[in-house]
Amino acid sequence: MHVPVLLNETLDLLITNPAGTYIDGTLGRGGHALEILKRLSPDGRLIGLDRDAEAIMQTAERLKGFGNQVQRIHGNFADMKELCKTIGVTEVDGVLLDLGVSSPQLDVAERGFSFGKDGPLDMRMDQTQGRSVADWVNEEDEETLANVIYRLGEERKSRRIARAIVEARKTGRIERTLELAAIVEKAVGGRRGPTHPATQTFQALRMAVNAELESLETGLEAGLSMLRPGGRMTVITFHSLEDRMVKECFKRHTVKRESLQQGGEKLVYDEPAVRRITGKPVTATKQELADNPRARSAKLRVVEKEMTV
Ligand SMILES: C[S@@+](CC[C@H](N)C(=O)[O-])C[C@H]1O[C@@H](n2cnc3c(N)ncnc32)[C@H](O)[C@@H]1O
Repeated sequence: MHVPVLLNETLDLLITNPAGTYIDGTLGRGGHALEILKRLSPDGRLIGLDRDAEAIMQTAERLKGFGNQVQRIHGNFADMKELCKTIGVTEVDGVLLDLGVSSPQLDVAERGFSFGKDGPLDMRMDQTQGRSVADWVNEEDEETLANVIYRLGEERKSRRIARAIVEARKTGRIERTLELAAIVEKAVGGRRGPTHPATQTFQALRMAVNAELESLETGLEAGLSMLRPGGRMTVITFHSLEDRMVKECFKRHTVKRESLQQGGEKLVYDEPAVRRITGKPVTATKQELADNPRARSAKLRVVEKEMTV
């Protein structure tokens, strides 16, 4: 069962106007969405996006009690401006992004996200477009594979893994999750410790085929640009590169005062101007960590669009 991470913390910081319009850019199982809707007044509205068509279908039942207060759209949150425009929404009171994969994606072997279950090496969140991990590992050159595994997986043995993949594919295409997991395990010299040796490689390949960092960069800017003054953007990350991207984006948009040589000061920021609501990121409480191990690396950052600058 997918338990929404940092649920109360997120809702408390996201919802400033119960009659407002909100975007959940990562609908998933609809866990956060359901609780947002419960906190909204009958005039409040939620637009749920997910690039996974399954998520859009499966949340129909869970959210049906809210009628036309909720609209679900299949698409990438990077395109939220265009997607919301199709239903006449150009400004919102809050945007939530809860990044990463959902439990149903991990649990269904056929989606190919799990190194613990045999399935086709797919890992695309949106199965209607793009290249699968199988295409990636069979077609990219060794250096590209090594760089992706190093950067996105923070895997020190990336070169060895890339070499083993290129060796293995000489005897035929690598098509299955367990096949790739075994190649990685052998390349890094077997199992040590509780985490599977293919964890970081699988994470890297998933992030690469879904262009996750690129979507985040665009999605953050799109979300900020759609906020009404006083509206908030809340982002939950599970990966250090993502958290850094969120932190840096929010910092660029935060209004700073710089003293001028001739006296006085000027305001420095990227449009649109925001103020920070969280200094250090919010992390899970001991209780949540005990109940939900997925919350371990979760970090929540929040900014608010400035009223006037
Ligand atoms: C961690 S889950 C969200 C869980 C959700 N908050 C809940 O409570 O059920 C992440 C979801 O975001 C989706 N996703 C990831 N990147 C996306 C993107 N760029 N655009 C739209 N959806 C995305 C995934 O398909 C997945 O369903």
